[in-house]
Amino acid sequence: MIRQGENVVATRWTVAVTREIPEAGLRPLRESAAVKIWEQELPPSEGELDALLQGCDGAVTLLTDRIDGSVLDRHPQLRVVSNFAVGYDNIDVPAASERGVLVCNTPDVLTNATADHTWALLLAAARRIPESIAYVRDGKWRTWGPMLLLGQEVSGATIGIVGLGRIGKEVAKRARGFNMRVLAFDPFEDAEFAREHDVSYVPLEQLLAEADFVTLHVALTAETQHLIGANQLQRMKATSILVNASRGPVIDTSALVDALRDGSILGAALDVTDPEPLPADHPLVSMPNCIVVPHTASATVQTRNSMAELAARNLLAGLRGERPPAAVNADEVL
Ligand code: DGY
Repeated sequence: MIRQGENVVATRWTVAVTREIPEAGLRPLRESAAVKIWEQELPPSEGELDALLQGCDGAVTLLTDRIDGSVLDRHPQLRVVSNFAVGYDNIDVPAASERGVLVCNTPDVLTNATADHTWALLLAAARRIPESIAYVRDGKWRTWGPMLLLGQEVSGATIGIVGLGRIGKEVAKRARGFNMRVLAFDPFEDAEFAREHDVSYVPLEQLLAEADFVTLHVALTAETQHLIGANQLQRMKATSILVNASRGPVIDTSALVDALRDGSILGAALDVTDPEPLPADHPLVSMPNCIVVPHTASATVQTRNSMAELAARNLLAGLRGERPPAAVNADEVL
């Protein structure tokens, strides 16, 4: 039994939450379990994570927590790892499945926020919004100029979407509103969606060669690591802009620095980077043709509430032995 405010509740489980998350997730957890929260701004170190997970039946983890076989071996009582993210490359899923540990994630609830943010980055890079803001703030704005801060036209251009999953599809739908030609690369083709939304599946090489804007939405796997390297950047148009809303290592960072420096591509807008966080003195941070934001694509109040709620529902369902709304290895474990 633990005491929560005035109420004494029967507690069956102890769960860890590896950072402060919205109350929408903490409330249901507290109603059913003793909750240990890592309240610091920075992620727990390996030792701190071990201390936090001590005696826990389940955990809500973040993409900054590495959960591998050795962590799970040190905490054999852990039965459910509920990631507060749709991506789960921070978790060794086969190692979890081998140990009967359920791994959950938060798909769908962040799709619109991430697609919207992809467009915010694309438009900001195309129309040079950060440079324009800096121009005004720096007191350089003296008159209207026919040649001032010219960007790239978005309407009617070609967008190439790499990874036409949930988020890629929402990016594609928004592209129709800009009357764009929409190309996509994805080994798993959804012919019905493509027909309905006028999307053409093409090989990656063709997409890179023809797109004015390339947006990335693939999960990080061994196959997608450095999917965009020097060769791929060379194939892109000199006027093109690359947007990464997936995971940093999908792009070879040093190849991107070279491509932006030598003009192989015009610009980049990155929600995610490798390394992450990117140090403030990294060349990409100060390049005028590169926008870097701190992995905030899903960062709206509404979406983060929904993610918290879903992560909690996943965790509690898993602990009850039920199939969670979003588990990535339910077939292996349940
Ligand atoms: C995810 O969910 O994988 C994002 O990167 C963070 O919302």
